[in-house]
Amino acid sequence: MDWLGTGIDSPLVVSRAVHFAATAMTAGALIFRAVVAEPALWSEEAAVFVRTQNLCVASLGLAVAAASGVCWFLLQAAAMAGLSLKEAIADNALLVVMNETQFGFVSELRLALAITLAGCLTYDRYTSSRWLALASALGLIATIAGTGHAVSGVGEAGFMHLTADVLHLIAAAAWPGGLVSLALLLATARHHKDLAWASAAKDITRRFSTLGIVGVGVIFATGVVNTWMLVGSMQALIGTDYGRLLGLKISLFATMLAIAAANRFFVTPRLDLRPEDAPRLVAFRQLTRNSMIEIALGMAIFGIVGLLGTLHPAIHISP
Ligand code: HEM
Repeated sequence: MDWLGTGIDSPLVVSRAVHFAATAMTAGALIFRAVVAEPALWSEEAAVFVRTQNLCVASLGLAVAAASGVCWFLLQAAAMAGLSLKEAIADNALLVVMNETQFGFVSELRLALAITLAGCLTYDRYTSSRWLALASALGLIATIAGTGHAVSGVGEAGFMHLTADVLHLIAAAAWPGGLVSLALLLATARHHKDLAWASAAKDITRRFSTLGIVGVGVIFATGVVNTWMLVGSMQALIGTDYGRLLGLKISLFATMLAIAAANRFFVTPRLDLRPEDAPRLVAFRQLTRNSMIEIALGMAIFGIVGLLGTLHPAIHISP
């Protein structure tokens, strides 16, 4: 469906981008809760609050991921069959794609993971349910790798590309995906007057920043592998639409990185001050605002990736 006359299937690109962002937000909330927030909490009341807040983020993310995932499947199946959506439904093409293609098989697997995750989120009061939710969410984000360019390779190089893409996706959930949970927690902590919230917020911001450093390292290293496999040369990076779009994505990533570094080295240390100190309140506001900017940049990156996966990789195009 070429809505804009650009040769780009816009509804497909949008549904992919929304699905990537929502799935990353879902997995990010559960990673944030298990690895960053819960170990830093000081009271049962705070633990229940943070658990519930992240449960809401994960549930909302899953609902959006499910809706966009269904749209993505329908539009992709129609595109694969070379039919309009109406014709694909009438011709049973959806069933053929579901049962006879790799995309259909991975979609079935992802549907099972989404249903498991929904069940676990419903019974979130049980510890085992919370761990299974985390595992299903990681599975849901990692299996996106089975739907794109990363499955086109063969042999050792193909295996390396697929592994890199799985790690790329998990790291994208942990860092940009977890930012939504961090921003919400900071906004809540800002309105609490007691020191316990202030010191927990600082601890949580530091822990998230450490997770972010690992995430950034993994995103960068695996992004380089992806780029090597799909672009292959500087000439293709500069001389093709695919390469230039990827370049834009890398610039947005660098901007996110600069903001994260400013948060870590200049803003977070100011949370040390007493609760009534004005600089501490300003620091809280800055951290929340910077996290929102990072989230917006992350969304733009998911938008670009939604498009990149529908284009021919630069390595197959002569610039
Ligand atoms: C915040 C930073 C980033 C996020 C959130 C992000 C997210 C993603 C996502 C969701 C995908 C889709 C995976 C798939 O379809 O299987 C992807 C693919 C990719 N990423 Fe990233 N990425 C980031 C940074 C980078 C960086 C720094 C590089 C390069 C050094 C990079 C290079 C790539 C490439 C080449 C692909 C393959 C696109 C395709 O399938 O055609 N990414 N990224």
